[in-house]
Amino acid sequence: MKSCGSMLGLPGRRLPSAEFLLLLPLLLLPLLLLLLPAAPAPHRAAYKPVIVVHGLFDSSYSFRHLLEYINETHPGTAVTVLDLFDGRESLRPLWEQVQGFREAVAPIMAKALQGVHLICYSQGGLVCRALLSVMDEHNVDSFISLSSPQMGQYGDTNYLKWLFPTSMRSNLYRICYSPWGQEFSICNYWHDPHHDDLYLNASSFLALINGERDHPNATAWRKNFLRLGRLVLIGGPDDGVITPWQSSFFGFYDANETVLEMEKQLVYLRDSFGLKTLLARGAIVRCPMAGIAHTAWHSNRTLYETCIEPWLS
Ligand SMILES: *[C@@H]1O[C@H](CO)[C@@H](O)[C@H](O)[C@H]1NC(C)=O
Ligand SMILES: *[C@@H]1O[C@H](CO)[C@@H](O)[C@H](O)[C@H]1NC(C)=O
Ligand SMILES: *[C@@H]1O[C@H](CO)[C@@H](O)[C@H](O)[C@H]1NC(C)=O
Ligand SMILES: *[C@@H]1O[C@H](CO)[C@@H](O)[C@H](O)[C@H]1NC(C)=O
Ligand SMILES: *[C@@H]1O[C@H](CO)[C@@H](O)[C@H](O)[C@H]1NC(C)=O
Repeated sequence: MKSCGSMLGLPGRRLPSAEFLLLLPLLLLPLLLLLLPAAPAPHRAAYKPVIVVHGLFDSSYSFRHLLEYINETHPGTAVTVLDLFDGRESLRPLWEQVQGFREAVAPIMAKALQGVHLICYSQGGLVCRALLSVMDEHNVDSFISLSSPQMGQYGDTNYLKWLFPTSMRSNLYRICYSPWGQEFSICNYWHDPHHDDLYLNASSFLALINGERDHPNATAWRKNFLRLGRLVLIGGPDDGVITPWQSSFFGFYDANETVLEMEKQLVYLRDSFGLKTLLARGAIVRCPMAGIAHTAWHSNRTLYETCIEPWLS
C-alpha cells in the first residue's frame, strides 16, 4: 500500500489499494484509445466472391451500376456477371439454362473456401433457385433474389405480347401447359391460378423446384436448398412486370386472384422445398421497396445500400 502511494508521488495520502486498482484502467483508458488506431489492424477477411445472374432479355451490361456500387463499398470483391443465355437466348428452357450456369458457377464455388453470394435478377432468380436445389456441393451464403417471380408469373407484360401476340393472359395456359410451350422459359414459370391441375401436371420447372409435383429427387433437392445461409427477397409494388409483385416474396394469387402471402402458400405450409425451415432458422430476409420499376432494380443506389450491401459479407 505504501509503495502505491509513493509511486503516485502522494506520500501523505494513502490510497487504498482496491480503489487504486479500480481507477488504474480508467486512467489508462484514454491512453489506450489513443494508441489503438496506431496498432496494426488484424488482417480483414476478404469479401466472398459474388456471382450475378441476369434476367429475361438482358445481359451483363445491365449490371454496370451494381458493379460500381460493390467496388466502391466492398473494394476487392471478385464479382462475376455471367454472360450466358443473353438477350433472346434467355427464352431457352430453364433447365437448359440451369445446366449452363451450373458449369459456370461450379469452378467459382470450388475456389471460394468461405463460400459465395448469388445476386439473381428476375427470371435469373428462378435459375439460381434451381441451382441451389440441384447442386449437392453448393456453398452459397446469401442468395439475393432481386425481383424474381419466385412463385410464378400471371400477368401481361410487353414481353408476353411480343412473344404471343394473340394470347390473352387468361388463354396463355393453353400454350404454356403443353409440351411445346414448356420449351419457352416464360412458360416454365407461367402460373395460372385458374388452372392449377394443368399447371401441376405440365410445369416441368416451377412445380418441380417448388416440390409441388413429387419427383424422385425432391428430398435431395430440399436438402441441397437448405445448405443456403440466407435467402434475401427483394421486390415491390411498383415493379410493373412481376405479377403479382408479391411473387418476389413467395406470395401468389388464389383462385379468386386474391394474393396470399408466403405463410399461406401450400409450398410453405408443407415445407415442400425448405421455405418454412429457412424462416424458422431466421434465414429469410424480406426487403420490400416502393418506387422502383422492374428495370431499375440493378441500378437503384438506395436499394443497393438498404437491401443488398448488408448481406455481402
Ligand atoms: C473500382 O474502384 C477503383 C477505385 O475507386 C477504381 O480505380 C476502379 O476502376 C474501379 N473498378 C471498377 C471495375 O469499377
Ligand atoms: C399431363 O402431362 C403429360 C406430359 O406433359 C401429358 O402427356 C398429359 O396429357 C397431361 N395430362 C393431363 C390430364 O393434362
Ligand atoms: C436425380 O438424381 C439422380 C440420382 O441421384 C441423378 O442421376 C439425376 O441426374 C438427378 N436428376 C436431376 C434432374 O437432378
Ligand atoms: C372465391 O370467391 C367465391 C365467392 O366470393 C368464394 O365462394 C370462394 O370460396 C372463393 N375461393 C377462394 C379460393 O377463396
Ligand atoms: C430508388 O429507390 C428509392 C427507394 O425505394 C425510390 O424512392 C427512388 O425513386 C428510386 N430511384 C429510381 C431512379 O428509381
